[in-house]
Amino acid sequence: MAETTAPVFKDPSLRRSAALFRAFLREPSDPDRCYSLLARDSVAQVARHIDLPGRIVVDVGGGGGHFTEEFRRRGAHSYLFEPDPRVLGARGGAGGDAVLADGYLLPLADGAADVCFSSNVLEHVSDPRTFISEMARVTRPGGLIYLSFTNWYSPWGGHETAPWHYLGADRARARYERRTGRPAKHTFGENLFPVHIGPTLRDVRARDDVEVVTARSRYWPFLASTITRVPGVREIATWNLLLILRRSP
Ligand SMILES: C[S@@+](CC[C@H](N)C(=O)[O-])C[C@H]1O[C@@H](n2cnc3c(N)ncnc32)[C@H](O)[C@@H]1O
Repeated sequence: MAETTAPVFKDPSLRRSAALFRAFLREPSDPDRCYSLLARDSVAQVARHIDLPGRIVVDVGGGGGHFTEEFRRRGAHSYLFEPDPRVLGARGGAGGDAVLADGYLLPLADGAADVCFSSNVLEHVSDPRTFISEMARVTRPGGLIYLSFTNWYSPWGGHETAPWHYLGADRARARYERRTGRPAKHTFGENLFPVHIGPTLRDVRARDDVEVVTARSRYWPFLASTITRVPGVREIATWNLLLILRRSP
């Protein structure tokens, strides 16, 4: 039991960040290894705040279902909600209990989930506030919301066109197409949006339906929380913001 629930690496730590980064670099050739490792790491982060066995977990924009599967492996009742049928079908919908659904309008009753989880989805929606409101709505009072996203000024903000997005999204996209001979997967303003650290932190802190439990860089090996407190610097140095929120009573 201890072996299956142990986190992969100490978090934060240099070994963990290096392993995640190596897996990320190999993602194009070995996506399963990359997302399985990331899922194990992320679910361990949730497990630090709540006992998972028997809990209801909703994975919003869960892609191919690696996170949903990891929550199940740790004893939770986990359900995958994903709006893209190609993505949902790619790995068989996490072995069932998958729903084709948009995160703006989840087919769930208020307070249905103990944990509402969303990894790297917020930068892909045009209205992050409404997306967060829906996550809060379906989470029970006292339950947890896990929310992480790559912010626009992160070195990876432009995704496959990074770091050229610093020179403008259109220019970065054109460069990508020129270099690879194929269009970029993401188009700024269509399926990739500029989300920033400062405004997002101000927004969640101002809400009365959630309280902030953790605000930190998801991947940094040290000063993971400190970085997010330094205006300006945090927009570049955070890379990816991890928020763990608790649903207010
Ligand atoms: C970068 S992938 C992240 C997948 C997975 N959560 C992960 O961390 O590997 C972004 C996902 O967000 C989903 N997505 C985009 N818009 C969404 C929306 N409005 N509601 C829910 N999911 C959405 C996409 O279909 C895609 O699966």
